[in-house]
Parts: sequence; structure tokens; C-alpha cells
Amino acid sequence: MNDRLTVEVHLGHDELAASLRADVRHGLGSRPYSLPPKWFYDAAGSELFDQITTLAEYYPTEAERAALTGCAAEVARTTGVGTVVELGSGSSDKTRVLLDAFDRAGQLRRYVPFDVSESALRAAGDGLLARYPDLRVHGLVGDFDRHLGRLPDDGNRLLAFLGGTIGNYPPVPRARLLGQMAAALRTGEWLLLGTDLVKDPIRLVAAYDDPGGVTAAFNLNVLRVVNRELGADFDVDSFRHVARWDAGSEWIEMRLRAERAMTVRVPAIGLEVPFAPGDEVLTEVSAKFRRDGITGELTDAGFEVVGWWTDPAGDFALSLSRRVA
Ligand code: SAH
Ligand code: AVI
Repeated sequence: MNDRLTVEVHLGHDELAASLRADVRHGLGSRPYSLPPKWFYDAAGSELFDQITTLAEYYPTEAERAALTGCAAEVARTTGVGTVVELGSGSSDKTRVLLDAFDRAGQLRRYVPFDVSESALRAAGDGLLARYPDLRVHGLVGDFDRHLGRLPDDGNRLLAFLGGTIGNYPPVPRARLLGQMAAALRTGEWLLLGTDLVKDPIRLVAAYDDPGGVTAAFNLNVLRVVNRELGADFDVDSFRHVARWDAGSEWIEMRLRAERAMTVRVPAIGLEVPFAPGDEVLTEVSAKFRRDGITGELTDAGFEVVGWWTDPAGDFALSLSRRVA
């Protein structure tokens, strides 16, 4: 126990299970099959994601770290805030670059990590308390599709959404999420958004289909989550990881392809899901952005973009926006 760490759980096990049941009923109840990517991140999935971030092929993490290193002091100075709220904070590893800059500027007061994965959030919180002796950490376990209205509000916040996780939303839900972020902030508060940029499809596909199979294990993990939580009988070994670039939508799609005919039972919702060989479940899109496009989306959502930085190679961008009236 540490009185500088509080963790509010807005998504306990029962609510999490109810939400998963609804998503599986919707995503596997009719074709084309899909499952939302938030269900990758149980304790095992969060660890697999952390492994992905260390792969040579998965460039976004180090590219974003480089971009953050270049802009963190300016972000601290420009915003002048004392509270950093981070959506989808995971291990909060790169966030340290940002928090270090706020600390050096003498303005670091409170960090609010918000994640669906309680295990990742608690481990991150413990590490940060040890690193910043005066920092208060107020963790929120929740779903940022539903619980953005519950952010602590001191009117002096930077909302950080890093990693390119915004790209895991197709355009319509993305506009809704950006709008909800704007609504959760007061006029004059800030958003620091990480977006992966469009680049050579060969590099993109390699980043989502590494030869060691870590991304495949991460993708397949969602079936293990559905098996464990809903009593389903997915034979995980009968599905294959697929990553492909959709040039029209400018996103990577991750899918799970059935390698044989089977019927999967999901007893918790009384569902039977037929698969023919080659049938696929869409498990994630990971959109890649261009500067004009994301600037337009932020403007439409109620933000004014005031800063734009990339890593030296121009692979990944961070934008700083201000909530306008
Ligand atoms: N920001 C970190 C982690 C990115 S992985 C980085 O840049 O490396 C995406 C994170 O978002 C995971 O920790 C996952 O648990 C969390 N997440 C995904 N969907 C979520 C949702 N709907 N609500 C809350 N957290 C979510
Ligand atoms: C969290 N999100 C930004 C990652 C991405 O790159 O879209 C998730 C991921 N999927 C496969 N590898 C990493």
C-alpha cells in the first residue's frame, strides 16, 4: 500500500465479462466476423504487447520514443499543466520521457493512467512511484469507449493518447472517440496524440507479422480470452495469424484465419459459430495517418493543433492540440 497510489476500478470482472459477451455476440453472431482489439489485453496479452514493442520489426515504439524525446520539454513548457492523464497507458514506459520533462520543469503533480488492463496499470503505477518521489498516481481501470466522463478534473490537464492506439479505430468510431475526448476536456486543456504515419507497405506488414511469431501469439490470445471468460471452445491451433495492408483504407488489418471446418461453441451466450476453411475473424485495424488527415480530424472534433513533431526518420508523429470553445 502506498498513499500516493489510488486505483479506481470502473470495470470490475462482472462488467468486463458482460461487455465481452455483448462484443462476442455482436462480432461473431453474424458475418463478417470480428472482435474488438480491446480484448487482446488480459495479463498475458499485455505482456505479449510489451514483447512486440521490443521487436526490431515493430518500429512505432522506438520512433515514438524518439519523437517524445525531441518534444517533451516543449510540451511541458507550452501546456504548463501539472496533471498528465494517459489513455491506454499500458506499461507507461515511454510516458517516462514525458514525465521526466514535466519533472525537470518542476510542474509534475499527478499522473492518471487509464487502461482496461488492471495488471498492467498496477505494475506501471508501482514503478512510477519509485521513480518520482513527489508524484501522485491516480489509476483508472476502465474502457475509454465508455468511461471518459469519469476522468478526474482539475481543469489543468494534458490528455496523452500514445502508441498510435487511435489508429485501432476506423474513421467513424475514431471521430466519436476524438469527440468524447474533446467533451471530457475543458476549453484550453490539451491533447498529445501519437499517430503512426503511412509508409512503405513492406515495412508495415513486417511490423505486424514478425518472423518469431510474437504478433501471431498476441493476435491468437484473443481466442484464449474468449475461451477462458465465456467457456468457448476455440481450438487456437486451428487458426492462423494474418496481417495485410489495405491500401484503400491505409490501415493494417489483423485477422485470424480458420485452417479447417469447425463449429465453435460459446456457451455463455448460447452461440454456435460455423467456420469453413479460410474464414476469417477481423481482430484489429491499425490505421496509418498523414498530417493533413489527422489535423482535419482533430479540428472537426473541437481541437486546434498547435504542435507537430516526428522522429528523425519521419515514421511516427506526435501532435499537440488545444481544446477550443
Ligand atoms: N500506450 C502504450 C500501450 C499501447 S497498447 C504504448 O504506447 O506502448 C494499447 C493499450 O490500450 C493497452 O494497454 C490496452 O490495455 C489499452 N486499451 C485498449 N483498448 C482499450 C479501451 N477500450 N479502454 C481502455 N484501455 C484500452
Ligand atoms: C496498440 N496498438 C497501437 C498496436 C498497433 O500497432 O496497432 C497494437 C498492435 N497490434 C499488433 N501489434 C501491435
